[in-house]
Amino acid sequence: MAAPLIAPSILSADFARLGEEVRAIDAAGADWIHIDVMDGHFVPNITIGPAVIKALRPHSAKPFDVHLMIAPADPYLAAFAEAGADILTVHPEAGPHIHRTIQAIKALGKQAGVVLNPGTPAKMLDYLIDAVDLVLVMSVNPGFGGQSFIASQLRKIEAIRKMIDKTGRAIRLEVDGGVDAVTAPQCVAAGADVLVAGSASFRGGPLHYAANIAELKGARNQPA
Ligand code: DX5
Ligand code: ZN
Repeated sequence: MAAPLIAPSILSADFARLGEEVRAIDAAGADWIHIDVMDGHFVPNITIGPAVIKALRPHSAKPFDVHLMIAPADPYLAAFAEAGADILTVHPEAGPHIHRTIQAIKALGKQAGVVLNPGTPAKMLDYLIDAVDLVLVMSVNPGFGGQSFIASQLRKIEAIRKMIDKTGRAIRLEVDGGVDAVTAPQCVAAGADVLVAGSASFRGGPLHYAANIAELKGARNQPA
């Protein structure tokens, strides 16, 4: 089985040193930088917006994977694209016209992802899968880092892997929430190829980032 891409969520970084943290996690082997945007309305937490993403952009050349937990999302897509997002992922629950939102992201020249909450069925993708570059399965309810992995989502990942393979397109299948050294291989076995990890990437501080990421990729015998 191929090693998954690791997308550390900077929600678990030290916000007072965010630029340095992005540089450190990039140097430690992060494949993508996962950025959680929360509005205190769609989810019960508030994080960061386009200005912070723009400020972080010079600190890493890795893809910025911007997870929008905001409602509405449409009025802000251009601002996030201009700030430096490479991938914009949106929740169907965040607005009445998810297909139009996906089209709007593509029209901005960015990769478009759809995110499924733990309670949202894979079926939601039936008429979207042909339009997206990425599907993100939430394995926690969005809003906070450090929550426990919801195991029922593994079946959903398996189902979506089948849907993706049927399309014959290289659509990424990403998992977000409670991903650690135990749940990461379960996600990969179920068919995921990108793993978001906040707590598990940033645990222990900068000296541990490289070993944390290597462990999530499935490498063994990493130095403590
Ligand atoms: C939750 C966010 C996640 C979160 C993951 O709403 O979308 O990206 O930061 O954090 P961990 O890996 O700690 O569960
Ligand atoms: Zn996220």
